[in-house]
Amino acid sequence: VIDIRTLGGKTGMFTYDSGFLSTGSCKSAITFIDGDKGELLYRGYPIEQLADQCTFLEVAYLLRKGELPNAAQKDEFERSIKNHAMLHDQLMRFYNGFRRDAHPMAIMVGIVGALSAFYHEAMDFSDEEHRTMSVYRLIAKLPTIVAMAYKYNMGQQFMFPRNDLNYAENFMHMMFATPCEEYKPNPVVAHALDVIFTLHADHEQNASTSTVRLAGSSGANPFACISAGIACLWGPAHGGANEACLNMLEEIGDVSRVGEYIKRAKDKDDSFRLMGFGHRVYKNYDPRAKLMRKVCYDVLGELGLENDRLFKLAMELERIALEDDFFVERKLYPNVDFYSGIVQKAIGIPTSMFTCVFALARTVGWITQWEEMITDPEYKIGRPRQLYVGPARRDVPDMAQR
Ligand code: ACO
Repeated sequence: VIDIRTLGGKTGMFTYDSGFLSTGSCKSAITFIDGDKGELLYRGYPIEQLADQCTFLEVAYLLRKGELPNAAQKDEFERSIKNHAMLHDQLMRFYNGFRRDAHPMAIMVGIVGALSAFYHEAMDFSDEEHRTMSVYRLIAKLPTIVAMAYKYNMGQQFMFPRNDLNYAENFMHMMFATPCEEYKPNPVVAHALDVIFTLHADHEQNASTSTVRLAGSSGANPFACISAGIACLWGPAHGGANEACLNMLEEIGDVSRVGEYIKRAKDKDDSFRLMGFGHRVYKNYDPRAKLMRKVCYDVLGELGLENDRLFKLAMELERIALEDDFFVERKLYPNVDFYSGIVQKAIGIPTSMFTCVFALARTVGWITQWEEMITDPEYKIGRPRQLYVGPARRDVPDMAQR
C-alpha cells in the first residue's frame, strides 16, 4: 500500500500490485476458479460435466445467458450461428494484403479488428439487438476466419462453411476439405475438438480477458476489443504456450534428453522454462489438463497414433517433473496447453495455428465478459495507477550542455 502523496495526490492510499497477483479488477458471475482445489465452474457448472454432457455452442449459450439452453433455444441459437458463418466478400480480400508466410495470429488480429469496418451498428452497443448481432457474428465467423488464415498460408482455395455440419465439424471442413474431393469429418475427432473449445471457452480475468475488458472500458467496439484480446493471447506466457510447448517437445526430441531439459528448467541462470507447466491461479492440477489428457488418449487411439513420439515424450516429461522436488514445492503441474498441442498436431492442425484455435474458443468468453462489463451500470473506464520510479522534476538543458 502506497501513500498517494508520493505520487502528487493529496490524500489516500493505493496498492501497488505488480502483475495483479492479488487485485480483483471486476465483479463477475461467469466463471469461478478454485486454484487450490483445481476446480473450474462456468456459471456454477463443473467443467467436467459440461465437457461430458454439452456441446461447445450450449456452453457458449450458457456463458452468455447464464443458463443452459432448452432444446428449442439450442436449435434457434445453432441456426443463428450458422446464418452468420460466412465472411463478407471484401473481408475475404483482406487476406491478400498479408504475406503468405504471415503468422496466422497476425492475420487474425487484422481480420477480426476489420470486422468493425463492416458492421457499423456494432458501435452502438447500448442497443441489445446490436450487441446480440455482434456476439453472434463473432462466434459464427471466428472458425471461418481461422480456417481461411490457414488456407491462405497454404496457398489453397478458401472453403465456405456448410450448414449441414455442426460447429466443430464445420471448422474441420473449412480447414481440411479441398474442392477436389468429398470430405467427411471424423466424428471422434470433431467431438474432441468440440471439447477443446469448451475447455478454452472462458477462464475469468486472465491477461487477454483483462485486455478485452480494459479496451472495452473506454467504449471501444466489440470487434476492436476481441482483436486486442487476440493480440494479448498470442504471447508465449499465455495462449502461445501450446505452440511453445510443442516446439519444446520437438527440441527435446527424444525421451533420453528429458532429464537434461528438466535440469535446465530448474537452473536459475537459464531462462528456459518447461512450457505447458505452471499456472498463475492453479496451484494444483489444472482440471482442463486432466480432461485434455483424456481427449489426447481418445484422439491418438482413434487415429492409431498411441505410440506417437511426442506423446510418449510428454508423458515422460510429466512423470519426471511430478516427482521432482523443484516442481512439487512450487506446485508446477501441467496446464491445459501441455496436452492441447499434441491433440491438435494429431488432428493435423499445424503448430502455428494452435493459438488461433484457442482464440476461436476464447472469443466466447471474451465477448461474454465484455457484455457483462458494459451492461453493468457501475462500470468505469479502467485506469490503473503506477508507482513512479523515474527522475524528479528537472529543467531541459541547452543542447550544448547535454
Ligand atoms: N518451468 C520452470 N519453472 C517454473 C515454471 C516453468 N514452466 N513456471 C514457474 N516456474 C518457477 C519460477 O521460476 C519461480 O521459481 P522461484 O520461486 O524459484 O523464482 C516459481 O516457479 C514461480 O513462478 P512465477 O513466474 O512467479 O509464477 P507465475 O504465477 O507468475 O507464472 C506462468 C505463471 C506464467 C504460467 C509460468 O508458470 C510459466 O511461465 N509457465 C510456462 C508457460 C505456460 O505454460 N503458460 C501457459 C499458462 S496457461 C494459459 O495461458 C492457458
